[in-house]
Amino acid sequence: MVEIAPSILSADFARLGEEIASIERGGARLLHVDVMDGHFVPNITLGLPVVKSIRRATELPIDTHLMITEPGRYAEQFVDAGANMVSIHVEIDPHLHRTLSCIRKKGALAGVAINPATPLVALEEALPFADYILIMSVNPGFGGQKFIPTSLDKVRRLKRMIEDRGLRTRIEIDGGIDRNNIAEVAAAGAEIIVSGSAIFNESDPAQAVRTLREAAMQWA
Ligand code: DX5
Ligand code: ZN
Repeated sequence: MVEIAPSILSADFARLGEEIASIERGGARLLHVDVMDGHFVPNITLGLPVVKSIRRATELPIDTHLMITEPGRYAEQFVDAGANMVSIHVEIDPHLHRTLSCIRKKGALAGVAINPATPLVALEEALPFADYILIMSVNPGFGGQKFIPTSLDKVRRLKRMIEDRGLRTRIEIDGGIDRNNIAEVAAAGAEIIVSGSAIFNESDPAQAVRTLREAAMQWA
């Protein structure tokens, strides 16, 4: 089952409640929240207080993507703030096992995010401790970038890696996904598909979510 996870990065933050309500109307079952600290990535977005407010505004599961240095220091606090899923980047956490275990112990799903130029082997040992892997299909930091085509093969290879180990780790993909490439992304094996600008830059975000879901189903 493919799930569309709208990323609020491209939403109008002054009307965040309405924007979230619109993607709920479109049938989104997950909300992707990008946390950036201006160090790990060259952009600053939002943090714990905003996640707490979003928690009060929606029943949708909140998927927090931490693009911050010292993710181990903050991961549990995001669960306390209301996150149901927390992903941390393999490039920045030398203690992945510990951080993933802490997230799980808190009752949330634990994910490992990986940048386009980081090889999959970097997360191989962490696979059994992760509920999902987030493949970045753009360099993290900004919405509206172009999809990096080699990400498709990376998703396929990760899928094989997961199956070979008899694991049930889910694959999420994030960056540059729109109605034209979503079917290919789903066919490669991604189950949670993040999309920001292709939803919130449209005049009708609810319809944009429906369009993406229908396009994703075409691969089946
Ligand atoms: C980029 C973020 C993405 C971003 C995706 O660093 O992690 O979640 O919002 O936006 P689009 O879909 O516009 O590439
Ligand atoms: Zn993201």
